[in-house]
Amino acid sequence: TTVEWEAESYDMGGHDTYMHKEISEQADAVDRVLRGRIDDRFSTVHLGGLNLDAREARGVRRIKILGCGTSYHAGLIGAGLIESLARIPADAEPASEFRYRNPVVDPDTLYIAVSQSGETYDVLAAVQELKRKGARVLGVVNVVGSAIARETDGGVYVHAGPEVCVVSTKCFTNTVVSFALLALHLGRIRDLSVADGKRIIAGLRRLPAQIEEILGTEDEIKKVAEEYANAKSMMFIGRVRGYPVALEASLKLKEISYIHAEAYPASELKHGPLALIEPALPTVAIVPDDDLLEKNRAALEEIKARSGRILAVAHQEQPKADQTIVVPKNETELDPILMGIPLQLLAYHTALALGRDIDKPRNLAKSVTVE
Ligand code: AGP
Repeated sequence: TTVEWEAESYDMGGHDTYMHKEISEQADAVDRVLRGRIDDRFSTVHLGGLNLDAREARGVRRIKILGCGTSYHAGLIGAGLIESLARIPADAEPASEFRYRNPVVDPDTLYIAVSQSGETYDVLAAVQELKRKGARVLGVVNVVGSAIARETDGGVYVHAGPEVCVVSTKCFTNTVVSFALLALHLGRIRDLSVADGKRIIAGLRRLPAQIEEILGTEDEIKKVAEEYANAKSMMFIGRVRGYPVALEASLKLKEISYIHAEAYPASELKHGPLALIEPALPTVAIVPDDDLLEKNRAALEEIKARSGRILAVAHQEQPKADQTIVVPKNETELDPILMGIPLQLLAYHTALALGRDIDKPRNLAKSVTVE
């Protein structure tokens, strides 16, 4: 598939920063990644460039996703989507770590390289090493015709349009949606029911309007960000699907605000990081309405008992939280897509309050094409 960047220009379009422009474009970007791919008749999706027929897809025993930074985080959510919808064991690993540990390359494993730019050296080197050892490697890439897109055997284009800001926002969202499409496709070739296929398709179609709804709450998120902007450090917690959301939100905050942040699975708090909790260390908690709601609420109680301030991102007000950013509910599997968006705005407005150079954070480049 060849798609030119016609959908958005490089013009700032009235926004003060590219980051703000790119956050604001996400409903359209998601609409674009879905366009022309949904097959209602068979409750599945078609991915033209995948280059993996149904027989080959059924033979995949394991999936390994490789990427760096934000793309790695999108890959973590992608692995969860593949496991839950296609029931194929899947995990994600930083490409930079993978390539240096002399990995066992397994012929029944499908490898997926994730990259916005398609030029990140560590990801490219991992792809080349895998190909050299005879592995099947697909790409989930934004930039058409980029090095990783060319070196992989096929894949899914993310269709986010050009992303200029050094920190990735719309591309993260579209990458996760691309993984949802891939998971649905693999699931419907295997054991995902028609009913579940329909349910996920309906959920995907609701995303653009729900993203607009979240973007409509920007003024409230801005107020919250200004309250937390003086923090020296912040903790981000989530469980299972919420944990990669916490990782990505914490990365976004550090990249553009330079506030120290770390992300932990909420379940790991009691194994150490609870010692850090005090009023000066606010926690951002991802609290979806899912089967882990009560567990997450118990973590909020533990934090409150130590006088920690809590900002929850949830589907309903959380009584133990000092503030809750309420996001619209989708299907459980797709909720991480929406929960990440207010946290992009939180990082953005925190950095703005601190007067940072948002589009060009210090020490960082848009794509890291060297070792
Ligand atoms: C994202 O905000 C970062 N600047 C960075 O982590 C980035 O995601 C990483 O370098 C990978 O880039 P890629 O997606 O172009 O491969």
